[in-house]
Amino acid sequence: MDTNIRQEARRLLAAMTLDEKLDLVHGVDFMWTRGVPRLGVRKLRMADASMGLRDDAIPATAFPASIALAATWDRDLAAAYGQAVAEEFRAAGVDVLLGPGVNLYRTACCGRNFEYLGEDPCLASQLVVAYIRAAQAEGVSTTVKHFACNNSDWHRCASNSVVDERTLREVYLPAFEAAVKEGGTRALMNSYNLVNGEYAAENRWLLHQLLREEWGFDGLVVSDWNSIRDAGKAFRSGLDLEMPGGQQWTPAALRALLDGGQVSAEELDRKVFQILAWTLEIQQMQAGRTRPPRGKCAAHAEVALQTARDGIVLLRNRDQLLPLKSAPGLRIHVVGPAAHPTPTSGGGAAKVQAVDPVSILGAVCAVAPEARISRSDRAEELAKADAVIVCVGYDAEREREGLDRPWEMHWLRDVNIIRHCQNHNRNTIVVVVAGGGVEMASWIDKTGAVLHAWYPGENGCRAIAEILFGKVNPSGRLPITIENSLADGAAAANYLPPGGQLYGEPPDYDWPSRAVFDVKYEEGVFVGHRHFDRSGKAPLFPFGFGLSYTTFAYSGLRVRLAAAGGADVIFRVRNTGSVAGADVAQVYVGDVKASVPRPVKELKGFAKIRLAPGEEKEVTVTLDRRAFAFYDVTRHDWVVEPGEFRIMVGTNARDIHLDGRVTLQN
Ligand code: BGC
Repeated sequence: MDTNIRQEARRLLAAMTLDEKLDLVHGVDFMWTRGVPRLGVRKLRMADASMGLRDDAIPATAFPASIALAATWDRDLAAAYGQAVAEEFRAAGVDVLLGPGVNLYRTACCGRNFEYLGEDPCLASQLVVAYIRAAQAEGVSTTVKHFACNNSDWHRCASNSVVDERTLREVYLPAFEAAVKEGGTRALMNSYNLVNGEYAAENRWLLHQLLREEWGFDGLVVSDWNSIRDAGKAFRSGLDLEMPGGQQWTPAALRALLDGGQVSAEELDRKVFQILAWTLEIQQMQAGRTRPPRGKCAAHAEVALQTARDGIVLLRNRDQLLPLKSAPGLRIHVVGPAAHPTPTSGGGAAKVQAVDPVSILGAVCAVAPEARISRSDRAEELAKADAVIVCVGYDAEREREGLDRPWEMHWLRDVNIIRHCQNHNRNTIVVVVAGGGVEMASWIDKTGAVLHAWYPGENGCRAIAEILFGKVNPSGRLPITIENSLADGAAAANYLPPGGQLYGEPPDYDWPSRAVFDVKYEEGVFVGHRHFDRSGKAPLFPFGFGLSYTTFAYSGLRVRLAAAGGADVIFRVRNTGSVAGADVAQVYVGDVKASVPRPVKELKGFAKIRLAPGEEKEVTVTLDRRAFAFYDVTRHDWVVEPGEFRIMVGTNARDIHLDGRVTLQN
């Protein structure tokens, strides 16, 4: 934090009355801070930001979901996305993005997976850093959420995530740590759940010891909406601002706590200082920058479209069924509940109301104007079609915050129509619209092709059609593992408490509706691809997986020791096919011999490489010292054990093309 800001915040603090201080620590009108009118301290306006600017009164670009952004594996796109969203905030006079979200994908059922960046700490960290830097450069504050361990939304206000320290440090915290230390986010939001027995809003270890003392965070911690249970505990925890209003931190309640000695005047001053400094920082970030014009912007729609083009994942393509060749007389049926309209987003705070969204049906008609497109799902007509595109999945009602969703898509609505089409046409192409993995093993074998489209936003269906007809070569890669069966997943045994039903119980938006229950993260660090390497089970689709219309060859691996105890991983990638395309080279590290159980391999770096046919590029991925470390709970520090490490370069967690070694010293 700038010295001038510090001084000015101190000066203002000294000029404030106790009443003004007690007023400032909670928000007003759902999305505003209060400011201090007497001293000219302005109010700040906030809005949700998971898929763009969410404010029903302001037309905004509905971007593809964050998980689609994760599936691009592209730091530049994450920056473009963050910048575009921030420009829309600035144009609308909104100062604070409530987002991005970085809770890791632990179970496919989590209703908020679509708002987050997938299962891997390295991928999530690198993308969120790019996003934050680009967004804050536009003069807004990001609010990275939900800190921490909100990895399922089933009774989120009663759910206690029980996680050992090593797992926290290695898996669930790195994206937050990177957001703070590298991204420089000016704000963070706590989650609704408990972490190791304390509500996140009241967890002093999380909000004070770790965040401020260890990571050196000097920004603001804002509560999730109505997430404080115990006013005094939350006050002492390190939280700064209660939103949306003073539910618990009412001036009267705080006065009583102060008078009774349960909270201190120094802590009140610290919070007030923090809110003042945050306000001044944002003001400084905005000074001298002209506000972008209001209204929707073509450049932002282009970023949204590019995110979908780069994030949609081609999972299956039997006998090169795709790309379809658009030609007069080509008969295509576009059917299924998500064909028209296509859900643009999951629900809850993330949902940006898309104006005139493109549907899959509409996009197919636009991209293949010569084809004969029909919506009929009558058996005899399906049988005559050249291909059938079946659009299925979830929507904003069924996948959203406050609840989790089933692993199986709706039997009658979705799975039946897939089977019906498969039975009548071999060239059945399934497009899945969902925020994470879904059950596919029972129907995929009879399917010609499968695309995972996540939530595509307002114009992402155009990208779906472009991929189906070969105008875009798919380059999205799974930011998650898709299991054969949910029971194969790392967290399956430790997810819902005994007797818990995914549906049929009222959602927990912001108040616990049942007694606190434990979610034990007993799998430890073995989450996602780490779990599948250890369990010996094969996933249906491994982490990092995605097909292309071209092929790539990898060669020439060299590993060179680099500055500060890290290593440079150097290799060549060639496009050996006949169309341009992009591949995601993934660098995994494994410790050959370790004193603690470590994953066989962990993603530690990646590069998205765009290549013309026949083109070859040399790629360097730099690994820092931490890439080789584990968190030692006895030393309370990251430790690299000297010795040999495997360096694996692959196109997914199960397809390693180059395998090398490097020896690290103390
Ligand atoms: C969500 C947050 C969101 C807030 C404000 C809460 O229900 O959990 O992510 O920022 O509402 O809309």
